[in-house]
Order: sequence, then C-alpha cells, then structure tokens
Amino acid sequence: MSDLSSLTPLLAIETSCDDTACAILDSHGTLLGESVLSQEDHAALGGVVPEIAARAHLKALPSLVDLTLERAGLALSDIALFAATTGPGLIGGLIVGSSYAKGLAMARGKPFMGINHIEAHILTPRLPASLRPEETAPNFPYLALLVSGGHCQCILVEGVGQYRRLGGTIDDSAGEAFDKVAKMLGLGWPGGPALEALAKEGNPRAYTLPRPLKGRPGCDFSFSGLKTAVSRYLEPFGREALPRHIAADLAASFQQAVADVMTDRVKQALATVPPVTALVVAGGVAANQTLRQRLENIAQEHHIAFLAPPLRFCTDNAAMIGWATLERLYQGEQPGDIALAPRPRWPLSERCAPSAHPSASISPSLMEPSS
Ligand code: KG4
Ligand code: ZN
Repeated sequence: MSDLSSLTPLLAIETSCDDTACAILDSHGTLLGESVLSQEDHAALGGVVPEIAARAHLKALPSLVDLTLERAGLALSDIALFAATTGPGLIGGLIVGSSYAKGLAMARGKPFMGINHIEAHILTPRLPASLRPEETAPNFPYLALLVSGGHCQCILVEGVGQYRRLGGTIDDSAGEAFDKVAKMLGLGWPGGPALEALAKEGNPRAYTLPRPLKGRPGCDFSFSGLKTAVSRYLEPFGREALPRHIAADLAASFQQAVADVMTDRVKQALATVPPVTALVVAGGVAANQTLRQRLENIAQEHHIAFLAPPLRFCTDNAAMIGWATLERLYQGEQPGDIALAPRPRWPLSERCAPSAHPSASISPSLMEPSS
C-alpha cells in the first residue's frame, strides 16, 4: 500500500441521483465523518425529477460538507484530496456535485479525483466500516450483484479497475420494477419497501407470473414482461379499489418471481466464471429479505462467503465514493485531471471520463489555497 499521508484525509461527495452525501475517510478507509440527505420532494411526484434533484443537491451541499467536517472534527484546510461521483447518473446532479468538489479542490490547491458510481458500489464490501465484526473483506475475484433503482448488473470483480460485466437488465432495473408494481398496487414511492411489507401477508403461489430469461445462458435480466403480467391481473378491477388480500397475493407472487429470476441469473453467472471468493449484493433492492435469503442460500451451496453491506452502505452514500478513491490510490493511481467532465453514461470498462475542456489547464494562481 503506497504512503497516502499527503492525500488523506479525503472528502468525497455523491450526488448522482436523489441522495446528497458527503464522507471523510483517512488513509486506512476509516470513516471519520459522514452525512446523507435523502431528498423527499420526489415521493409526491412518484419518482426522481432530475431538475428538482440537481437544485436540491446545490442547496444541500454547503451545509452538508460543513456538517461532515464537524462530525470528523476537521477543518476544510485539513482535507488533502477532494473526490466526487462523475458518472454514471443524472447529469444535473453529477455536474453540481463534481463542480462543488472541484471548486473546493481548486480553491485550496488540492487534487481532485472523479469516481465511477458503479465501481464504488461494487467495491463497498471491502470498505472497513461496511463489515460486521464476523466478516472479512472479500478478496478478488468476487461476484457482485448490483440491484437498485438505477442499476441492475452482475459483475465479476477481478481487481480494482478489472471488472467483467456478465450481464444487466435489458429493460427496467429491479428497483424500477418494484416501484412500478407497487404503484399499480396503490402503494407509495419508493415502492420496494412497501411492497415487501405487503407481500408478508400474501401467498407467493397465488398468481402465476412469468420468470423472464430464466434458464437462458448469460446473466441478463428483464422485468417489463413481469410488470405487464401483474397489470393483466389488475384489469378486472378497473378503477375499483383493490381488495387488500389480492394486492398482498400479487405482491408476494411478484416478489417470488423476482427472487426466482435473480437466483437463476446468479447461478448462471457462477457457473461461467472462474472460482470466486464471495457473492456480494449492493443497491437498495438488496434490502429485500426474501432476495437476500435466496442469494445467501446460493453462496452457501457454492461454499463462498455472502456479503450484503448494511443498508446505509448498500444505498447511495459517499463513504463508498471515498473508499473507491482510496482503492485507486492504493493501486498507485495519481489523482485525476480536474477538467474531467461528468458522464451520465460511463461504462466500467473505461477508466477515465473525457476532458470537459481538453485545452483547459488550471492556472497556478488559482491553485493557491485561498486562506
Ligand atoms: O440504491 P437505491 O437507494 O437508489 C438508487 O436507485 O440508486 O435504490 C432504491 C431502489 C428503489 O427502487 C426501491 O424501491 C428499492 O431500491 N428498494 C427495495 C427495497 N428497499 C428499497 N426493493 C425491494 N425491496 C425492498 N425492501
Ligand atoms: Zn447507486
């Protein structure tokens, strides 16, 4: 591990969707301070509105950064490096968060690093704070299933920067599918937690639903047919209120179908990759207990560890952005070009985001600390 004393503590910012988050980490990855603000304005609108999210990030960031520094017992002048999510995600939020981090870096003459959000999610099980006392960080290679509102991917993590995408959704993400079906059943947004709660009252075998792509080679996912199948069962009710027991049976049957599909896809993935040390799951949908249990069973069958980070590290957070920065620095990577542009789409196979202004260079006078 290289000496990182001149690059830490580092401050990381995450703003790629609807959570504004900031975290400060030391050179070992110890979380010195952390704050997350989950935007609530979107619930009434039934989904994340990008423009509202970007404005809310801008409003929240200054006080969130101050609060995180206070929690860490540090001043801005103690921060040696600034990092931010630069993609993939909603472009407005990415611009706000990365510009804010770049601004702080420039004002204080410190380096900046742009981090890939997906990479951060799949490296999270190695973040010391995400491990329970009985767990150890997974060694490479391990299999990561990322299931959230924005993502649904299965990735072989062979090392830092060495990722093999084994498959992903060809339509909706798993979280979107939960949210859309929850909406049809008259539940609020985000729908996943409400649907899981309702499913506890229902019979998972009450309705016959498809298992899209089950048994097919590869590790792709598809949820739109499943969603349509649920909507067909709802047609006879028209505008009438749905009886609760029917909604519960549909919720349980849907959840069972998703769990069946996910276990099948993960089994397919495990059958095609070289031996792995662990199966890890991340993203908001990883909160689902039925799904977790099924994935844990697969890991047991394969005699590999199963790691599902605590929910606050599974969902969007800045500790994972700080940790991915450290993992990159441990590899000897140098802090990046401050002119790197945020990217709404950023495949894991490409390390760098393109330069926003290829000719841009930071004037030395701008790099001097302001105070
Ligand atoms: O990772 P996340 O907080 O945000 C991003 O999308 O990046 O994931 C949110 C998604 C939502 O679609 C939500 O409905 C889903 O995760 N979710 C769940 C559960 N808790 C959250 N889905 C199924 N079961 C749950 N218990
Ligand atoms: Zn995410």
